[in-house]
Amino acid sequence: MEGQAERRSERLAKKQRVEAPEEAAAAEAVVAEAPAAEGQVAQAQEEEERGDEPGITRLERLCAPTAHQGAGLSKADLNALIDHGIHCVESIAFMPLRKLQDVKGIGEQKAQKIMAAARQLVPMRMVSAAEMLQMRRNMIQLTTGSTQLDRILGGGVETGCITEIFGEFRCGKTQLCHTLCVACQLPIENGGGESKALYIDTEGTFRPERLVSIAERYGLNEEDVLENVTYARAYNAEHQEKLLAEVGGVFCESRYALLVVDSATSLFRTDYIGRNELAERQQALNRFLRKLQGIANEHGVAVVITNQVQASPAGGPAAFMGPQVTPIGGHVISHASQTRLFFRKGKGETRVCKIYDSPNLPEGEAMFAIGTGGIQDAEKQ
Ligand SMILES: Nc1ncnc2c1ncn2[C@@H]1O[C@H](COP(=O)(O)OP(=O)(O)OP(=O)(O)O)[C@@H](O)[C@H]1O
Ligand SMILES: [Mg+2]
Repeated sequence: MEGQAERRSERLAKKQRVEAPEEAAAAEAVVAEAPAAEGQVAQAQEEEERGDEPGITRLERLCAPTAHQGAGLSKADLNALIDHGIHCVESIAFMPLRKLQDVKGIGEQKAQKIMAAARQLVPMRMVSAAEMLQMRRNMIQLTTGSTQLDRILGGGVETGCITEIFGEFRCGKTQLCHTLCVACQLPIENGGGESKALYIDTEGTFRPERLVSIAERYGLNEEDVLENVTYARAYNAEHQEKLLAEVGGVFCESRYALLVVDSATSLFRTDYIGRNELAERQQALNRFLRKLQGIANEHGVAVVITNQVQASPAGGPAAFMGPQVTPIGGHVISHASQTRLFFRKGKGETRVCKIYDSPNLPEGEAMFAIGTGGIQDAEKQ
């Protein structure tokens, strides 16, 4: 994750350089001086750019010889990796070595060579706390649409980790997911990530019309906004898990800042019924959540998942929340998400968000509202 933050800030620096007119002119002059090499320069620049995108270090880089940071892979090796659901070098750098040996045609020695190259291309070095603080300051946070909500979140939804939103029906979980899909396309200085969003819908409640209204609120072009949101409907828990393998591929093709799973738990609840299937359900849910965490690490995206609540026995751990409810999924989900937000209905049409668990935020509460333009401050209503 540290590597991602570092490279994201490098990418931003690069973007700023390109925006500086004198430098751009100088770069054009260099190309003009050597017209024969123009294609090569452009290609090299493109490759360099690609290499700098968070989560997009192309697998082809591993075809280079060992002396050039590669692993001397053949086309057949590359295809075997892709068939195995590995689409970029980041996926390799973050996986255990023994998993790499599950790929067809990759034995122990080759796996070690590939891993060594991957770890060189995607450095996962130790950093000092001071460096880590700097990286966290450079981290992109996505605005929720409500300044009050952003305030208690310390800026917005964090990229590179999992945020869970749980609460009863109609409390705004799906509306926040829609708002984030548009917000992540905003310029970084306006609380966005200048990137695309991917939405996995398990309940059939995704509505592109909502994206159009939210785009209007932010003054964004509605066609671009719609084009930048990739949608996938999951029909059962197994399908939901399989989709994640495809997500890795999609994230390697283009720059994404957000992955939504709305809801993460509902299909597991309907596909595994009764006490005798509970252990199996929790195992499957755990596997799914671990894959999500892998995606957050590898691609540096914000992963936002929603979750329902169920009645908890009186005096249970969630009794302080008011209505006696507790999130679905037990310990499996509570350990998977870094930040957990509890949404509930407030007075009138308002909604309240409480930080239920976070490694760095105090237990704050904020009021917000749902409007035509998505999540917004309650006062505006
Ligand atoms: N265009 C709109 N303008 C204003 N409010 C809207 C609009 N569309 C939906 N809402 C409000 O959003 C609320 C529903 O929120 P949402 O769908 O996010 O709930 P949820 O928490 O996802 O519930 P569930 O658990 O059932 O999925 C409703 O109160 C509805 O009135
Ligand atoms: Mg919903």
